[in-house]
Amino acid sequence: MAGDDTLFIRTLKGEASSPPPIWFMRQAGRYLPEYRATRAEAGSFLDLCYNSKLAAEVTFQPIRRYALDAAILFADILLIPQALGQHVAFEQGEGPKLSPPLDAGGLERLSSADIHKTLGPIYETVRLLRAGLPSEVPLIGFAGAPWTVATYMMAGGSMKDPASLRHRFYDDRAFVTRLIDTLVDATTAYLIRQIDAGAQAIQLFDTWAGGLPEDVLDAVCLEPAARIAERLKGHSPETPIILFPKGVGPALKKFASLGDCDAVGIDFATPWDWARETISPLATVQGGLDPLLVVAGGEPMIAAARRLKETFDGVPYVFNLGHGFTPETPPEHVSSLIDAIRSA
Ligand code: CP3
Repeated sequence: MAGDDTLFIRTLKGEASSPPPIWFMRQAGRYLPEYRATRAEAGSFLDLCYNSKLAAEVTFQPIRRYALDAAILFADILLIPQALGQHVAFEQGEGPKLSPPLDAGGLERLSSADIHKTLGPIYETVRLLRAGLPSEVPLIGFAGAPWTVATYMMAGGSMKDPASLRHRFYDDRAFVTRLIDTLVDATTAYLIRQIDAGAQAIQLFDTWAGGLPEDVLDAVCLEPAARIAERLKGHSPETPIILFPKGVGPALKKFASLGDCDAVGIDFATPWDWARETISPLATVQGGLDPLLVVAGGEPMIAAARRLKETFDGVPYVFNLGHGFTPETPPEHVSSLIDAIRSA
């Protein structure tokens, strides 16, 4: 398929290059005035996600502005709970609300029968993107990892009290396991459709993987990621898979060691030298730069970015952040950052 021999895909498959390919988590979003205009045209954030033409437009925006080395599908990780039947809303300035918070009865009522009907517009967005992107810009498809999506479903929104979800795991392991299994199946089916529609790499976002005891992490994050990756590779062996279990510290090594994992994202707290020594022999490393440094900009941002690039000279590395851009990021700081990496 067009785009499979691009710098980004070759790097995910283990080739080192200098300068490295560059893309950014949340490269499309509220920090860009053109995003805010398209979002206003769409109405709500969810209307934007399900409007294939406007969602594709939002993905194109940072590609036009910055000539990045990869594009990412514009959607959200919370479309899966909605497709399974939980009510999802984004209130302005309040973050997501999932209602009611999932209990045993709610889990019973989740149904994957119609997920592709709900998610059909997303597959159409992927087709529009693949048809409209330059052949040298591959398209990343994505989903939330089961644990992160489950935290929103159980808490009814952003997890405010991590201890309550650990209690839930110890008190009713069968409930959590069944929810994770449901999400593994739905997420795999969703990602396979994205690949079939034209996504050329897949990233699994596990934003809330941090802070779990090792055996819980293995059960709710590592093992589900392994199952999804194995099934995706069974369907499409050539499509690289990036895992981003944020905040897991040294346990990142276990994710990088999975046979079906091509690359792992490192968050902004991961020591770069440690990642180079420990993770690079196992998988391509992606990311690491603190997104708040890009809000600050100037010499501290440029110096850190050059040091990050130098840390991974000679091994396969994808330049990216250690989490997504925040809305207050000045777009011109992103241009300076890209220039610094490409001229270093
Ligand atoms: O990276 C990209 O450019 C692709 C698009 C993308 C979005 N969300 C768009 C979005 C991706 C990959 C995501 C993933 C996502 N969504 C994650 C995992 C990564 C991460 O950031 O930790 C999570 C946890 C979510 C859930 C989610 N979506 C939250 C908590 C919020 C509200 C955040 C806030 O500050 O209000 C969203 C909304 C969202 N998803 C926005 C965007 C651009 C902002 C919506 C708006 O326009 O108001």
